[in-house]
Amino acid sequence: MVSAAAPALAATPLSPALGSVITGLDLGRCTDDARTMRALIDLLHQRGVLVIKGQNLSDADYVRFGRQWGRPLEFFIKEHRRQDHPEMIRINNDPATPPALRDGAVHWHSDGSYEAEPAAVTMLYGKEAPREGGETLFASTAAAFEALPAGRRMTLEGLVAIHELGAAPWIEGETPPDPNRPKRDMPRQRHPLVIRHPVTGRRALFTSGTACGIEGMDQEAAMALIHFLRAHITQRQFRISYKVLPGDIVLWDNYSTVHSATPVAYSDAEGERRLLYRISTKGMPALCRA
Ligand SMILES: [Fe+2]
Repeated sequence: MVSAAAPALAATPLSPALGSVITGLDLGRCTDDARTMRALIDLLHQRGVLVIKGQNLSDADYVRFGRQWGRPLEFFIKEHRRQDHPEMIRINNDPATPPALRDGAVHWHSDGSYEAEPAAVTMLYGKEAPREGGETLFASTAAAFEALPAGRRMTLEGLVAIHELGAAPWIEGETPPDPNRPKRDMPRQRHPLVIRHPVTGRRALFTSGTACGIEGMDQEAAMALIHFLRAHITQRQFRISYKVLPGDIVLWDNYSTVHSATPVAYSDAEGERRLLYRISTKGMPALCRA
């Protein structure tokens, strides 16, 4: 909950299940303001996705804002990293992009679910947006869990899933990444199928885009359950679509949501360019640990 002392944010829901849009806030003036930052953090934890409109931050201020949400990561594909700010990943549709590095996120996932410690919060800062396409889809894994019958929820709570990058079953509308996309040689990870948010305690399904087995369950039954849950999570009532526009900072909580990019044309023509800067964090915001 937002504490009584927190400043009121002008927030409008994107849908009943998730997402809020904030206007009238200049992050350049309040990145170091603990009360405003705590109100933003609490709102993200309640709503899963935040869109903060009309921002004009320097790169250094954006990284400082990013650090308020946890420890920023350095992404494993070095071609995507910015040399001057390695916490920032450049996402664009430059036609020179090799096929193996295109459309790597056009499938439902939460960030870093194939790691021992998945990402907590991810944010995109919009610099350029194409006139057509480039929407990001989000779905609430918390609302999807709460909509299941009580008996089903209890059964799921005891299960542990196995995660591996690129090994999950695909669902309708997803584009499997190019087989030559850079991979990480890393061990499979175990994560509970139902996770608890470390701050709010709210439960959510965690099949993400990398669950490829369930401990103690035969593989066919496990894949059928994972496929069912992924299709359940991405139903219309749990889902929103948002196109990141210039000046937007869009954040999502990887504990309670999954997201998917949508295909975008690779073009540097006027009105077709896309440029976003991504920061992804792990761990809890320092303000929540205080
Ligand atoms: Fe992602």
